Amino acid sequence: MPSTTSKTSTKTAGAKKAASNSATKSEETMLKELFIEELKDIYWAEKHLTKALPKMQKAATSQELKNAFEEHLQVTQVQIERIEEVFEMLDIPARAKKCEAMEGLVKEAQGHIDELPKGTMVRDAGLIISAQKVEHYEIAAYGSLVQLAKTMGENDIAEILEETLQEEKDTDQLLTELAVSGINIAADREEEE
Ligand SMILES: [Fe+2]
Repeated sequence: MPSTTSKTSTKTAGAKKAASNSATKSEETMLKELFIEELKDIYWAEKHLTKALPKMQKAATSQELKNAFEEHLQVTQVQIERIEEVFEMLDIPARAKKCEAMEGLVKEAQGHIDELPKGTMVRDAGLIISAQKVEHYEIAAYGSLVQLAKTMGENDIAEILEETLQEEKDTDQLLTELAVSGINIAADREEEE
């Protein structure tokens, strides 16, 4: 039976080089595994969001916010397809892994719906806060995935995910505009009434 100890003790320069290559290789594999884990996380998060957005749309008071949630639902469905495309490019099945953060963020949104009175602008202000927390989580997730994909030399994947990243940033911006252009002011007036 060959002894691994004797092999180690007679390690040549070539063997050392091979060992260092295998260390690099395993780090590459670990990075790819990390990327895939994060992809599964955001896949779950987006799917979960498609269930929450119709409830947020229904709960919103103003037509502008209802429209924003409806539009974002359509955008999210395309984003899910993009993630599936990335899984396909990596030649692995599309699998979701529960995202505790998105579950918590959606619970917070539900909390606003439960606690803020129906038909008020303060409820819209609360829903915008929840939606922006969701967008910021997604911006962090996609921003990291884009950077990891670039590091791994997966530029096609980076490009696909960058499209989604930009959409999340645009949605965040739209929500800010809705808040500052009328909803927050209307909510503040309600307080005075
Ligand atoms: Fe998204």
